[in-house]
Amino acid sequence: MSNRFFVISLVFWFSISVIFFNMSNQKKRNFQIEAFKQRVVVDPKYADKTWKILEHAIHEIYNHNASGLSFEELYRNAYNMVLHKYGDKLYNGLVTTMTFHLNEICKSIEEAQGGAFIELINRKWNDHNKALQMIRDILMYMDRTYISSTKKTHVHELGLHLWRDNVVYSSKIQTRLLNTLLDLVHKERTGEVIDRLLMRNVIKMFMDLGESVYQEDFEKPFLEASAEFYKVESQGCIESCDCGDYLKKAEKPLVEEVERVAHYLDAKSEAKITSVVEREMIANHVQRLVHMENSGLVNMLLNDKYEDMGRMYSLFRRVANGLVTIRDVMTLHLREMGKQLVTDPEKSKDPVEFVQRLLDERDKYDKIINMAFNNDKTFQNALNSSFEYFLNLNTRSPEFISLFVDDKLRKGLKGVGEEDVDLILDKVVMLFRYLQEKDVFEKYYKQHLAKRLLSGKTVSDDAERNLIVKLKTECGYQFTSKLEGMFTDMKTSHDTLLGFYNSHPELSEGPTLVVQVLTTGSWPT
Ligand SMILES: *[C@@H]1O[C@H](CO)[C@@H](O)[C@H](O)[C@H]1NC(C)=O
Ligand SMILES: *[C@@H]1O[C@H](CO)[C@@H](O)[C@H](O)[C@H]1NC(C)=O
Repeated sequence: MSNRFFVISLVFWFSISVIFFNMSNQKKRNFQIEAFKQRVVVDPKYADKTWKILEHAIHEIYNHNASGLSFEELYRNAYNMVLHKYGDKLYNGLVTTMTFHLNEICKSIEEAQGGAFIELINRKWNDHNKALQMIRDILMYMDRTYISSTKKTHVHELGLHLWRDNVVYSSKIQTRLLNTLLDLVHKERTGEVIDRLLMRNVIKMFMDLGESVYQEDFEKPFLEASAEFYKVESQGCIESCDCGDYLKKAEKPLVEEVERVAHYLDAKSEAKITSVVEREMIANHVQRLVHMENSGLVNMLLNDKYEDMGRMYSLFRRVANGLVTIRDVMTLHLREMGKQLVTDPEKSKDPVEFVQRLLDERDKYDKIINMAFNNDKTFQNALNSSFEYFLNLNTRSPEFISLFVDDKLRKGLKGVGEEDVDLILDKVVMLFRYLQEKDVFEKYYKQHLAKRLLSGKTVSDDAERNLIVKLKTECGYQFTSKLEGMFTDMKTSHDTLLGFYNSHPELSEGPTLVVQVLTTGSWPT
């Protein structure tokens, strides 16, 4: 007996050194082990006895009584079983013993009531993992050689599969576990505080059991339940809230769900749950929200509700056609409003007022697009095309714009700083840009400019020239050459007159003579 033990130990220690020092030298190792094996006479009951020791150890491990076990001895036993070609017996024994314990665990979990149920699952899962770790250490040699060469499931993975099939998929646990988890999520969504750490641990168990287990057995039903929850939520809300309040409510779960994922779900679930919320809370209600009576987008536009519109923009941009819808409604409203403005005979009575209103509307929408619509280029385009549309509905628009300039340059700009003058001129050029009949504008502009120049009524020569330069940038040299000719004539006249007075100082006391030399073709007749 002691002789056999000695031989076996010798094999053990020798092989250990072979494994650890000659892992790469397969030939040598095989040769050495073969040489020893032939000398060993194995007791026929050897395998049963050794397995009993290991089986007992597994029981003790699951019973939390492992402190008395010698891992070195157990390792050696498992090692020898494999070495003596009892790998099958060891492996099958492991499966049977672990299954037995998992069934025991299963029964105790089934009996748990209320909140103890999920807590017990968590605790038993932790126990099982610890046991699995110890068992894997003891059976490491089997894991590396026998399992690898027979292509069986490695001990750790085997432990997970057995847990999955015997505990998580047990008929009395599976549905109950899922419902418990979904119920906890529901509680949290409706404002209760739940044990997030416990959630995290149990859901992590699904992840540890494999991506498909997490996805099929938790994530999928979770997403379905979430869709149902937010469907009901959004229905209730849309019946009772105005548009602004609804948008505030829709914003919240987007933040909360991302937070939930961070706390206890797989990071890959974030995009999925987010798109569920987007669909149920936003996409399904885009039309209804935008057109809500007394609180929809038109109401927000009329009342400059930047915050609400900004919220609508950032929520709607998440869903297909969301922004297009906002833009279309804004465009339609703008065109209607603009059309009324330019075709109302009352409002056309005062050209200066008429243009000022247009500029005010333009400023208003510029600000809305800037503050609420993220300076979206497509919105700016819509604004530009709307103005182009309605400004040209009134054939007198070119004349009115010129009259507006005339008013500003005669008196309106007196005492206005240089930068502000420039700003006003830019706005005029902007309106000019929208005009289809630019020639009509030029015709009026020339007349009005001529009157200003000849009567010396213009407030600022710089402003006049500045505007010409801006128009030139818009339309090219051809467009403004005659206008510039008028300026040249004015300067020539001025210089001539100055020269005249300089050579006749006696005349400066008498009545003033004003002579203007005008080039034919440059001036309106
Ligand atoms: C725990 O282990 C010790 C020593 O290994 C043993 O004597 C004892 O019977 C075990 N207890 C249980 C409850 O199995
Ligand atoms: C809209 O018109 C303004 C003023 O004419 C112009 O500056 C801006 O570039 C235009 N926006 C787009 C997107 O075309």
